[in-house]
Amino acid sequence: MARNCFGERELAYLRQVVEGQVAWRWGKSNFVPRFEEAFGRHLGRQYVHAVNSGTSANTAAYASLGLEPGDEVICPGLAPIFVSFPIVAVGCIPVFADVDPRTQTLAPQAIEANLSPRTRAVVVVHLNGQPAQMDEIMAVARRHRLKVVEDCAQAFDATYKGRKVGTIGDIACFSLQQSKHMTSGEGGMVATDDPELYQRAAAFANSGMPWYMYDLPRPKAEPLAGLATRGHFSFGHDFRCSEFHAAVALAQLERIGEFHARRRELVTMVENGLRDLPEVRLAHVYAGTQPNYWQYPVHGPERLGRRGEINYIEVEYQRMQQQRRTSLGVPLPDHVQYVPGLCPQAEASTLGAWSFFVHHSTDDAEMEAAVAAFRDQVLAG
Ligand SMILES: Cc1ncc(COP(=O)(O)O)c(C=O)c1O
Repeated sequence: MARNCFGERELAYLRQVVEGQVAWRWGKSNFVPRFEEAFGRHLGRQYVHAVNSGTSANTAAYASLGLEPGDEVICPGLAPIFVSFPIVAVGCIPVFADVDPRTQTLAPQAIEANLSPRTRAVVVVHLNGQPAQMDEIMAVARRHRLKVVEDCAQAFDATYKGRKVGTIGDIACFSLQQSKHMTSGEGGMVATDDPELYQRAAAFANSGMPWYMYDLPRPKAEPLAGLATRGHFSFGHDFRCSEFHAAVALAQLERIGEFHARRRELVTMVENGLRDLPEVRLAHVYAGTQPNYWQYPVHGPERLGRRGEINYIEVEYQRMQQQRRTSLGVPLPDHVQYVPGLCPQAEASTLGAWSFFVHHSTDDAEMEAAVAAFRDQVLAG
């Protein structure tokens, strides 16, 4: 990996940042707002905020929802841990729900099975670039007045019934980490059409300074004891995106068609290379969805062993289970459990699971070798 990721366009934009001598979001800042504007136009969302990682994007998105400590957020039992840790980081409780065994994305019916009076939100992960079943998920969420966060870190430009993922729920998050569809090494984006969620996410990502370079309304701070304040109106972190990152990200967005085309070629190579194996199930594509694979997932025989990211069996969740509170000390209600067997479909779907990294920098020889090695393993019996 990592060859041909960056080129002349990225270098030219980076040179502009160096020559301009301003690398953070300040008065003369150029690339961060330009990238946000371009990303919003590309995605079809009105408000976009650039941050320094996908994990920060998830955290800011959760923080935008106005959750109270101890509120519950339903998330898929199988997903990268960057999805659930930020729920803990905003003082809330991740409740793991089962997944659809065909795509390993959140099963719509599992949302209702995990509701409690404290449930406030659902986070959907379009895992491996496969769109989750959004109509059903949105229907359940609306019925129970839950906010929906779409985690699109692995699914940039995938579509569900003609709509890009990230434009269906209330707020969406993206990652620009090196392995993703486009990258600035590290980085992330939050996107929404709701001005209130945007303002809260942007303020949280900027240490509660809502006015800070983002043209947001600036509340009036009453001087206390005659002393001046700088204007931190709410709690938050510094998740800011630098000009260097935005310069590279803008260049990558401008080249996105080229990257996506190469990804599709690699997917075709995998599918053609495995189609004849009766023991191998290729990725399931629901009607009306157009995945944009980050990794191409397949299922082979059980003897391949287990592969997957079941969050609740990680050491940190086991510690929370034993102590009956989250890492931040929020008590876990009895119905919240982090025990093996919690999400049977998620656990079963890790058996025989395999995936092919279809990053656009992969060359034909590498992909052929990966497919051949997998075929050998399957055919070895
Ligand atoms: C689904 C998902 N969400 C969030 C993240 C976090 O992104 P980052 O690594 O940029 O913090 C990742 C990263 O791999 C991811 O795959």
